[in-house]
Amino acid sequence: MSQLEDEISDVLNKAIRGLGKTSSEVAQAAGIDEVGLNAVLGGSIDKIVISKLAAVLNLDPEALLGLPKYQPNVAELAGVQRWIMPYRAWSVNAWMLEMDGVTLLFDTGWNRSDVLSKLHGVQPNAVFITHAHEDHVGGIEPLEEQGIRIISETEALKTSEYQFGNIRIQVIDLSGHCVPTASYLIKGFEKSLWVVGDAIFAGSMGGCKSTKNFELAVANLRNGFEQVDADCLILPGHGPMTSVELEKSSNPFRKYFS
Ligand SMILES: [Fe+2]
Repeated sequence: MSQLEDEISDVLNKAIRGLGKTSSEVAQAAGIDEVGLNAVLGGSIDKIVISKLAAVLNLDPEALLGLPKYQPNVAELAGVQRWIMPYRAWSVNAWMLEMDGVTLLFDTGWNRSDVLSKLHGVQPNAVFITHAHEDHVGGIEPLEEQGIRIISETEALKTSEYQFGNIRIQVIDLSGHCVPTASYLIKGFEKSLWVVGDAIFAGSMGGCKSTKNFELAVANLRNGFEQVDADCLILPGHGPMTSVELEKSSNPFRKYFS
């Protein structure tokens, strides 16, 4: 069982922050008292309160209540490796793709020594960055020192398409959680792959620091979801691999982007 990035309380807190509401506004709109609200925001499970909150926050109530048991059931794909690396008390993903001798790394983890030990002497053809948060770019320096090509999110958003051997990459702007954020829609494997950084996770999305960023995040996610197939696999910056189809049905934020 792979641990999800977020629990019910995290999703509720992200939605409230994204919509720019105060606790008392939310409690009043949901018809609950603030004590009940704060208990749920602190992690306690009260199904009635959670359903009422889902309704006022435009979250999918079934998806939200189902989160503790949600596991995206996605089979691993040849040539796709999830590298789970430490980040303070948590973890962060980097994704290593390999096809016909071409290797591409997406993000670098937090710590320079972790990425080097994972690479084990392999020199990727390029390293793509989704966004510049420290847990995704902390390993860039030793890779640059080895002369490995680093493609930043800013460069990627200007370039929009890449090809390495039989791997084709389309850049899709998923700014919001972090501005800028580049996501990468990758073709050439058995299924298409979408490396999304922290824009979306299995069962959640990246937190946004303001209502403006949240609005941008969901607008970009909506646009991104229009460009990908249902069976496209989502490779997020934290938590397990999932798919477009699964997140369209099982992500509590699904009404915002699909
Ligand atoms: Fe991030």
